[in-house]
Amino acid sequence: MESASGLILGIESSCDETAAAVVRRGTEILSNTVASQIAVHSPYGGVVPELASREHLRNLLPVVRTALREAGVTYRDIDAVAVTEGPGLAGALLVGITFAKSLTLALGKPLIAVNHLEGHIHAVLLEEAKLTEDEGGSRAGDRKGQSLALVVSGGHTHLYLAEFGAGPKGSGNDTATWTYRNVGRTVDDAAGEAFDKVAKLLGLGYPGGPWIDALAPHGNSEAVPFSSSQIKAKVHRKGELGALNPAEKIYFSFSGIKTAMLRYTKVYEMESSIEARRLALAAMKNPKAADALPLCDRRTLDLIASFQRSVVDDLRRKTFRAAERFGAERVIVSGGVAANRELRVRFTAEAGERHLPIAFPSIALATDNAAMIAAAAWPKFVTGSFAAEGLTAEPSLALGS
Ligand code: KG4
Ligand code: ZN
Repeated sequence: MESASGLILGIESSCDETAAAVVRRGTEILSNTVASQIAVHSPYGGVVPELASREHLRNLLPVVRTALREAGVTYRDIDAVAVTEGPGLAGALLVGITFAKSLTLALGKPLIAVNHLEGHIHAVLLEEAKLTEDEGGSRAGDRKGQSLALVVSGGHTHLYLAEFGAGPKGSGNDTATWTYRNVGRTVDDAAGEAFDKVAKLLGLGYPGGPWIDALAPHGNSEAVPFSSSQIKAKVHRKGELGALNPAEKIYFSFSGIKTAMLRYTKVYEMESSIEARRLALAAMKNPKAADALPLCDRRTLDLIASFQRSVVDDLRRKTFRAAERFGAERVIVSGGVAANRELRVRFTAEAGERHLPIAFPSIALATDNAAMIAAAAWPKFVTGSFAAEGLTAEPSLALGS
């Protein structure tokens, strides 16, 4: 099924961003609207599920209207609505799904369910496809070979082998779809969660990733040598990664380094300075990382830099180990933590040494957005893979085999 316009309205509400976007044929973003709930959850230092659902309910209709207006289209021009099915917070997902279902029912248009993790991968594919088209090259789907995708965000740290495969026999590329094989994951916290918890522990703002990213260059990353056992996954449960041999499993673990950070702050009696920083930032209207810099002493900055270096190095080592083990022809890094500057620099350097192409999303598409959902929906639209009437939220939805 393919229409002349190929306009998909994407809706994303899996966590703390209410987002809507209009994307043409999976490559051209006509609008990408995100209403952030940071201010709502900030005082709690993490996402409060009930508040997230309430905010989605409040914001979704205005966000969709804005997305349509900015794209210069009306409901009637849309060919299908794509919505995040999971994984995510059940109540938050339900708001988006219920809205999308009602909309498609009223408009008589198809509904497409999208896995949030596939959306993150498509944030990269979408921009690449656009580049290829702009350069007059082949379509995105013509790309051959396997990609190793690291999806690294506040809720997820996964490694996937992604491949664009031919569709049913006799069909052209237009019915081809992406397939995914999960080859690695975290056994405890997600990397972004570690950034968020460590930032909270040090009296910094929420979400913690951008704060640590901004403060880390001011510290010495060699100052606090976290041992590799503090970030090494100790659990190797058999059979958890499908058909892989146990030797092929790749696990991450980020709870040990968080505990090590807590212990460090106690050993060096940093509690009172942390509390003073927390109070000083709480007294400011809309504080930024730059406001925190003069409130951080050398030891704190060194600790922040060392933490970031350890996490980035662990992600880098295991990602490239997986790429090598599975013979991937390129590496994709996506999700909120892919916005991290040190991560981009260090991954890019290693990819260069290995002569492996590497791709990141633009910063705007690294964190949660609906353009990635609309883009991931395009191959499903083309192949007529529409959601069943009984579509509901799948908080633990997995991607691939
Ligand atoms: O993809 P995302 O918006 O939501 C999830 O699907 O979880 O990712 C949000 C996560 C948060 O943990 C946030 O701290 C982290 O991404 N993050 C960063 C940066 N920007 C956002 N982590 C490190 N460095 C950044 N610059
Ligand atoms: Zn996400």
